[in-house]
Amino acid sequence: MEVIVRKTTGDAVNLTAQLIADAICAKPRFNLGLATGGTMEAVYARIAALNAEKKVSFAKVTTFNLDEYIGLPPEDVNSYRYYMNFHLFDHVDINKKNTHLPDGMAKDEEAEGIRYEKAIKKAGGLDLQLLGIGHDGHIGFNEPMSSLTGRTRSKCLTPNTLEVNGKYFNPPESMPKRAFTMGVGTILDARSIIMLITGASKADIAAQALEGPLCSMVTGSAVQLHRNAVVILDEAAAAKLTLKDYYNFIWENEPKWDKYRHF
Ligand code: F6R
Repeated sequence: MEVIVRKTTGDAVNLTAQLIADAICAKPRFNLGLATGGTMEAVYARIAALNAEKKVSFAKVTTFNLDEYIGLPPEDVNSYRYYMNFHLFDHVDINKKNTHLPDGMAKDEEAEGIRYEKAIKKAGGLDLQLLGIGHDGHIGFNEPMSSLTGRTRSKCLTPNTLEVNGKYFNPPESMPKRAFTMGVGTILDARSIIMLITGASKADIAAQALEGPLCSMVTGSAVQLHRNAVVILDEAAAAKLTLKDYYNFIWENEPKWDKYRHF
């Protein structure tokens, strides 16, 4: 796991988008794992801009999202399918047939988890999984105490997540209490991971996930297990990291980051 701290949220976002674009340019037939949430909105806007500038093409890219609310049809403004169309898919040259999310309306939840896992496998596995992190440390919707080897399945959300995400729903109580999510095991199978953490409100959980013990109470700590994971933070989210000087030293001295130092 490598940790990169950039001064502003904008720099952290632009670096994240550039690393994704460069990975796709290096392997156009790319399987990309995607996340939703407030943090990712700016990343998708930047990726759409890079696509408009013809600096990256999604023509051969296949995507798999981490999660979807149970009970919301794709046309619901709060479904993650709607979010993805709105923030990314409608703005890039992707074939929507190649964009996948769990089916929030699936009748048989167990079968839906198995179907989604099979679809990822059939596509050849994920080349890169993009991650945010929740205030309770969740990745995808792997809430505290989720198995660190779990696969795609339905999960009951925590009251904390209902409170944080309820703001997107009108009324907040109409937010579904359950969701499908890739498991931590599914996420760790990706060949690479980029996690983006921004904002002062994430400083505590960032320190716990990155420098604290590996534990299912903070499923985001599982990134520590991955051999090819890069975690990008802005200064505000990195405020409580103890090894910041070391992370900065690596950023300044590792040749592979040479071409990114302007971010
Ligand atoms: C959603 C997802 C979640 C979010 C997390 C942070 O697809 O994967 O784990 O990344 O809830 O959300 P924001 O960015 O809204 O703080």
